[in-house]
Amino acid sequence: MPQLFKPSANTLAKLSVILAGLLPVVVLYAGVTVSRSPYNTKVDIPIDQPIPFSHQHHAYELGIDCRYCHTTVEKTAIAGVPPTETCMSCHSQIWTNSPLLEPVRKSYETGLPIAFADGSPGWTKVNAVPDFVYFDHSIHIDRGINCNVCHGPVNKMQITWKGNDFQMRWCLECHREPEKYLYTDAANPNLSGREQVFNLYMKLQEGAKLTQREYNMLYKNEFRYSPNTKEIEEGKALVKKYGVTKESNVDCYTCHH
Ligand code: HEC
Ligand code: HEC
Ligand code: HEC
Ligand code: HEC
Ligand code: HEC
Repeated sequence: MPQLFKPSANTLAKLSVILAGLLPVVVLYAGVTVSRSPYNTKVDIPIDQPIPFSHQHHAYELGIDCRYCHTTVEKTAIAGVPPTETCMSCHSQIWTNSPLLEPVRKSYETGLPIAFADGSPGWTKVNAVPDFVYFDHSIHIDRGINCNVCHGPVNKMQITWKGNDFQMRWCLECHREPEKYLYTDAANPNLSGREQVFNLYMKLQEGAKLTQREYNMLYKNEFRYSPNTKEIEEGKALVKKYGVTKESNVDCYTCHH
């Protein structure tokens, strides 16, 4: 009987069986890679806005406190984005003819929200967690966690981008080991955690000396910082002081209820 398959075809058949076996793994891996890439989560990519609002200009160079515009951040779950009136408190007097500020003036005149030139509503959301996740700003600020730890180097952004992916494992990394993230400003030990958050931006603007850790919190990814033994000891003392219960902090109910 003549051979139906040549040896080379046999090898090919074997190879395709192996490949088929690997396929689910490859697809799964590709899926995971895509869902974590900056494209999907838009991390580090400036988001198009109706007005090129610069945090570098306003928060860093002019030194306007975050709370002037994000008025509820230390008291409630949400930080809030400022209404047109907040911009007009300055821009009815300065830069009044800037074409960049036309959407602000239009909104002020019409009473409608700030919008893109084509009329679609503005301030595109940069950061969000899904509806089934509960998040609260006030408790994090109260524990002295700087905005930049979660949002990236906001005070350096010309156009705002998302600093972290806000996936569950990211939240849990800090909830599991809060002692690695809690800290006290040694130069201002009497400030509360909350005061310390905003004071750090003032120190930066005034050109005060920053510790390596503070520099890291403001500019680098805090999650790649390895605190030394002394810093971890300090963190543990703060865990006690604040009464952080690590068990309930990783409890599903804390974030999903
Ligand atoms: C003069 C007003 C003003 C000040 C001061 C200000 N912001 Fe903002 N912020 C805005 C506006 C307007 C937006 C919406 C447009 C944008 O995303 O850039 C915004 C957006 C943001 C966002 C993204 C919101 C989203 O859609 O997810 C973050 C995070 C943020 N600000 C953090 C800060 C921090 C941290 C500070 C202080 C260091 C600060 N802001 C100071 C006006 C301000
Ligand atoms: C406390 C005062 C103050 C507030 C509040 C404020 N700004 Fe400004 N803004 C300034 C000053 C001062 C400048 C000019 C900075 C410079 O060029 O040195 C400026 C510049 C700008 C520019 C650049 C204008 C140009 O033609 O280059 C834009 C855009 C802008 N602001 C948008 C906003 C928006 C949007 C808001 C509200 C969310 C806002 N500002 C709130 C003070 C303010
Ligand atoms: C522990 C991490 C964390 C810290 C610290 C933090 N944020 Fe946020 N922020 C978030 C998350 C998560 C969201 C998305 C919330 C949502 O979708 O409900 C968010 C959303 C925002 C928004 C969009 C509007 C809103 O309220 O949802 C603004 C503005 C903002 N943060 C500003 C700030 C400022 C200003 C600070 C510091 C004073 C700060 N954040 C500190 C995690 C943080
Ligand atoms: C850098 C550290 C850090 C990160 C990142 C972080 N948290 Fe927290 N979170 C804390 C600390 C510290 C507390 C306070 C725990 C306590 O005192 O018991 C807390 C408390 C909470 C609480 C309890 C609020 C309450 O009222 O009891 C919720 C909900 C929460 N975080 C959600 C989140 C979510 C969702 C994320 C991710 C999007 C997140 N956190 C990211 C440190 C962090
Ligand atoms: C510190 C806050 C926090 C805690 C605690 C937490 N989650 Fe989540 N969870 C999140 C966030 C944030 C997301 C959204 C992630 C995203 O947008 O991709 C999420 C998403 C999910 C999802 C959707 C699938 C996914 O991975 O995105 C499931 C299911 C889930 N959580 C289950 C749980 C269970 C079960 C527990 C307890 C063992 C738990 N979570 C504890 C913050 C938390």
